Amino acid sequence: MKALVFHGRNTVSVDTVPDPIIKDPKDVIVRITSTAICGSDLHLYDGFIPTVEHGDIFGHEFMGEITEVGSGVTKLAVGDRIIVPFVISCGICEFCEKGEWSLCDNTNPNKEMAEKAMGYSPAGLYGYSHMFGGYCGGQAEFARVPFAETSVFKVPKDIPDEKLLFLTDIFPTGWMAAENADIPEGGTVAIWGAGPVGQFAIRSAFMQGAGRVIAIDRFPERLEMARAAGAETIDYEEDEKVSMKLKEMTDGRGPDSCIDAVGMEAHGAGGLGGLMDAYDKAKQAVMLESDRPTALRQVLYCAKKGSTVSIAGVYGGLSDKFPFGFAFNKGLTLKMGQTHVQKYVPLLLEKIQKGEIDPSFVITHLLSLDEAPHGYEIFKKKDDGCIKVVLKP
Ligand SMILES: NC(=O)c1ccc[n+]([C@@H]2O[C@H](COP(=O)([O-])OP(=O)(O)OC[C@H]3O[C@@H](n4cnc5c(N)ncnc54)[C@H](O)[C@@H]3O)[C@@H](O)[C@H]2O)c1
Ligand SMILES: [Zn+2]
Ligand SMILES: [Zn+2]
Repeated sequence: MKALVFHGRNTVSVDTVPDPIIKDPKDVIVRITSTAICGSDLHLYDGFIPTVEHGDIFGHEFMGEITEVGSGVTKLAVGDRIIVPFVISCGICEFCEKGEWSLCDNTNPNKEMAEKAMGYSPAGLYGYSHMFGGYCGGQAEFARVPFAETSVFKVPKDIPDEKLLFLTDIFPTGWMAAENADIPEGGTVAIWGAGPVGQFAIRSAFMQGAGRVIAIDRFPERLEMARAAGAETIDYEEDEKVSMKLKEMTDGRGPDSCIDAVGMEAHGAGGLGGLMDAYDKAKQAVMLESDRPTALRQVLYCAKKGSTVSIAGVYGGLSDKFPFGFAFNKGLTLKMGQTHVQKYVPLLLEKIQKGEIDPSFVITHLLSLDEAPHGYEIFKKKDDGCIKVVLKP
């Protein structure tokens, strides 16, 4: 089959690789009909996530049709149309039972690696490094889907892929980002990053009762898409002092809640000066800092006293000059994590079916799988108005 394969920093190609096979009775094989490129893939592509190896297949937002089922699978059958959440979950451990699907205890075969690095291991994820399980990803014609009955969802055949695909990640991620932000009814939430995750966080915040959303980014087309949903916007390059602008917009008190939808590859100095920018670049160059938390520093600075900061942007390991004192002295609550996708799919699928949201609004590029390397380039550089790439294998 064909798949998008990693060959070192900023280098991917579509190669012919062996077809996936059933390895465990709980597996199914899926023929992929749609798959997307995520901001999290960029962290792999850019070489910031450890234990990614040459030959790894990327991709964790995919859906399709089951072509083969393992001997232990009874609730799914060949021909079923499914969406595959990026989180692989057993459904029965302490964490899955609590609805903390991304913290599943049983789906990371390389648990020891993660335990050595972080103390305890989170769930296995598709196409997201060996420390997270070494599973082949879904930017491919086919994929092996382990723990299928407790991880995937059957979806109706009369709704197009483009409306359902983002249930695998970015719609639930935006939803959980808003939920984690504890936005008071009618309150104001500031969201850093108007990429696909930020866009879903904006819409989710309104659906959850926010009165005002302020979106912060620098790409005009992303800010435009945010305004289309009713958000006010700040271009952080034009309004150099985002903190002053936010203060002005909120009667001097700051936003009721803040969301980081940027993550570890934030651009700019976060309003804390060029020196910090140079510092991060120097430390990253010699591998002493894996994460560049410039947006997160600004979020903590701008957060209202006593408020909650929700972090949906991914952080991989070591963040430097993390202003913990801002958070401590203002009594902030921080909530974060990989999304518990399975927890939100039934609710969000219902919203799509009722017509409350059509998630396909975010797609700017529909490409073939062969064009995936080009997709990575335009998505990374935000060229050609690129906001979200969907690939059709
Ligand atoms: N928690 C989860 O489970 C989960 C799931 C999916 C994605 N993510 C993460 O969410 C983040 C966003 O993903 P995406 O797909 O939207 O990616 P993206 O790269 O398209 O979006 C990031 C946006 O942040 C903006 N940005 C950069 N620096 C900024 C700054 N200093 N201030 C304000 N905005 C800034 C960029 O211009 C860009 O529009 C990534 O870190 C991704 O890994 C997390
Ligand atoms: Zn993702
Ligand atoms: Zn589990």
